[in-house]
Amino acid sequence: MAEYDLLVLNGLVVTDSETGEFDIAVKDGKIAKVVPRGSLAGEKSKKTIDAQGGMVMPGGVDAHVHLDEPPLFGKSATADNYETGTRSAIAGGTTTVITFAPQHKSEPSLLACLEATHARAKDNCYSDYSFHLICSNAGPKAISEFAALREAGISSLKIYMTYEALQLQDSEILDVLFEARKQKIVTMVHAENGAIIDWTIKRLEEKKLFAPKYHATSHPPVAEIEATYRAISFSGFIDVPILIVHVSSPAAAKHISDAQKKGLPVYAETCPQYLFLTRKDLDQPGFEGAKCVCSPPPREGEQDHEGIWRGLEDGTFTVLSSDHCPFIYDDPEKGKKIVITPEYPNGHFRYIPNGCPGVETRLSLALSANRLKLQKFVEVTSTNAAKLYGLYPKKGALIPGESDADLTIWYPEGMKEFVLKNEMLHHNVDYTPYEGRTMKQWPRYTVLRGEVVWDKDNGGLVGKKGYGQFLKRDVSTLAGSKKAEWNVEDF
Ligand code: URP
Ligand code: ZN
Ligand code: ZN
Repeated sequence: MAEYDLLVLNGLVVTDSETGEFDIAVKDGKIAKVVPRGSLAGEKSKKTIDAQGGMVMPGGVDAHVHLDEPPLFGKSATADNYETGTRSAIAGGTTTVITFAPQHKSEPSLLACLEATHARAKDNCYSDYSFHLICSNAGPKAISEFAALREAGISSLKIYMTYEALQLQDSEILDVLFEARKQKIVTMVHAENGAIIDWTIKRLEEKKLFAPKYHATSHPPVAEIEATYRAISFSGFIDVPILIVHVSSPAAAKHISDAQKKGLPVYAETCPQYLFLTRKDLDQPGFEGAKCVCSPPPREGEQDHEGIWRGLEDGTFTVLSSDHCPFIYDDPEKGKKIVITPEYPNGHFRYIPNGCPGVETRLSLALSANRLKLQKFVEVTSTNAAKLYGLYPKKGALIPGESDADLTIWYPEGMKEFVLKNEMLHHNVDYTPYEGRTMKQWPRYTVLRGEVVWDKDNGGLVGKKGYGQFLKRDVSTLAGSKKAEWNVEDF
């Protein structure tokens, strides 16, 4: 009789396509069997988890995480490195993160940025990981390297339509998309109109309006709506898949859904900040509103949240990622408060590093909201990211012989509600935007390739730094283009 490494018995197993009472056997880091409850009785195993009353899901895949990025804006580097960011991920039930390998405009080579990012991550990760390249210098050198990126297992890029330090001009975006089509790379687009934002910032500065809440004023929905429509138009023109990242505005989501209905290969992502935060969170006493400054900003309120939830339910949004982009709040050198200077004694929204932490709270916030059907929850927090970015069925699934044994196990019935405090979290940030929220769910176990790495009630973080592996990716089978072949000869 085979001896398994791990048995997970008596749980309600939920994947994107099925819910049922199954027992799971794990061998050599892989899912070996998923069989009706009771079928593994008497089987030998080194370890057994009794998931009676619990839910067993594929481990979370968070496809939008910023770790150990050097400063792009002023002096502020991200607060989490690969060690602290990935330990935070597994404590929140996420077993795979896709982080960013950023290219500064002064660096012509993407491969050099990839190498530097590998060095930062290697031997430091608690979770498995891969990288998207951020392409901010789309010169001939970078474009010529797309094929080599694919060889190196990188099947996605992010580009920006805003931020002076990162923004590509429209013709450069077309260059990227055209080559992305040839190399079958998915392009993620930060869709905000940089000119509208810069123009609005100037008007606000003339009126001496500097408080954090004016960050939201300076990033109006129209900036996102216009850029989203433009990105969709470019994707249709070149006939190449794109994913619009961190969508905050229901009106932008409408453009995405219209494009999808026309059969265009347009995917979209949203994040917890657009489901749980509002513009009011930027208007806290003192400079505290800076904690919730991200781009696009949280929108007005309930109606916006409702529109984004609906987009998750109806499939407009392919993925729910964290956009974990951590900056310390109270640090005189590199914190979100750095902008409090003699020139701006009350601070200035323009210089607040953009981004919020959230890799650890993404799954629990969404599940605690009890809004999505469980299979949909798995789809948008795990399976779809694996499919879109070339990790499926190794990740995001529980397919015997094919999937890694990555599991997140919840015990919703035995779980007592609790009030979230930053001190409970494992990131390297001095705040969470979700401080004081009542949480109804938190993962009891996180299992990565058959090893228990998070055991909430028995040691907490029990995984080891360096256990996380780099994941090579490939999206050559991605169903995307309307045309059967991506016919580049047309151009
Ligand atoms: O404000 C945000 N979203 N910061 C992170 C960088 C980005 O654009 O994703
Ligand atoms: Zn972005
Ligand atoms: Zn981001």
